[in-house]
Amino acid sequence: MQFAQRLQPLNRNVFADMDRAKAQARKAGKEILDLSLGSSDLPVAPPILETIEKALGDRTTYGYNLFASTRFFRDAIATWYENRYGIPLNPETEVLPLIGSQEGTAHLPLAVMNPGEFALLLDPGYPSHTGGVYLAGGQIYTMPLTVENAYLPVLGDIPPAVVESAKMMVLSYPHNPTTATAPLSFFQEAVNFCRQHDIILVHDFPYHDFVFEGTTQPPSILQADKNKEIAIEFFTFSKSYNMGGFRTGFAVGNAAIIGALRQVKAVVDFNQYLGIMRGAVAALECDRAIVDDTIKTFQNRRDAFVAALKDMGWSVPTPTATMYVWAQLPPAWRNDSVKFATELVAATGVAVSPGAGFGKSGEGYVRFALVHDPDILQLAVQRLASFLIG
Ligand SMILES: Cc1ncc(COP(=O)(O)O)c(C=O)c1O
Repeated sequence: MQFAQRLQPLNRNVFADMDRAKAQARKAGKEILDLSLGSSDLPVAPPILETIEKALGDRTTYGYNLFASTRFFRDAIATWYENRYGIPLNPETEVLPLIGSQEGTAHLPLAVMNPGEFALLLDPGYPSHTGGVYLAGGQIYTMPLTVENAYLPVLGDIPPAVVESAKMMVLSYPHNPTTATAPLSFFQEAVNFCRQHDIILVHDFPYHDFVFEGTTQPPSILQADKNKEIAIEFFTFSKSYNMGGFRTGFAVGNAAIIGALRQVKAVVDFNQYLGIMRGAVAALECDRAIVDDTIKTFQNRRDAFVAALKDMGWSVPTPTATMYVWAQLPPAWRNDSVKFATELVAATGVAVSPGAGFGKSGEGYVRFALVHDPDILQLAVQRLASFLIG
């Protein structure tokens, strides 16, 4: 059977390979310690769950939701966003509920790109950013991130011919997988660049709460584009509220870009279940201490994991943000992170994400997701030590 050519670039998926490697290791009797996925193991807070439970008992919540019936959610988002970032939003035109931010970022290229046009993406970067551009028939120009440049792209290095045909640029800070943060001054530079070249600026912002003690709160892209001329920003409930499986998020920003994405979504979905949207409002309105506790938990895990790695002789920079540790592999493994990850899981049951899965510039690294308590993380490091040192 012949399927659409647009699927071809999606055929090579390192994460699907890892999934298979994990399944094989499990079948072979290994106990899997899964540090490969950024899927939080922490519980959803009681006020959120109680709101959703209550909705489940209310049969008026069971139907389809057209745009108008999401107004209460959009109002809550606009209020939350303005309280937090000081920029008012029009809930009718500048806010859009999503079925997870991945859904939104992957659909956006269909709304804004013509086949053959370029998207400027971070390398390493989040795989669905790439996938969405391929589905829309776009071309990808990857902006390499290097430790020397603090994992920020060098906009002046993009060839003029690519800039000429670029339709959108995607940024995402705090950054998965490198854990880097970006200052507002960099966002201002990116906004000026995109404005000058008529490029839509996309900011995927799932880790807006995930910065640790001593690090300044990360800026929203709209703080650099206060009149919302060119930017759209994506938020999720998966990280701050541990609601990954509930599939809910939202986009805010330029009304025309939001409107275009809404047109695509009107074809493909009917919004999230009303009870989950109510739960998301409860999350936005919950006591900030609930989120702070989650961040503190991840900070403690970070400290335990980085210290354990150091004890076994693997020194990595201490991340200041996100739920990950981005680690350069020992020299013997530096040109094949996929081999490292697949052999590691087969030998020890410890699953990690190979850096190459996030793009060419990720080769030589692995990403650890801190989605277990410190004792499990320490056990994972013991197994890593036995794999590397014997
Ligand atoms: C950069 C980035 N964007 C999007 C997502 C997915 O978010 P959601 O669960 O809202 O689709 C993730 C999850 O790890 C992520 O790291």
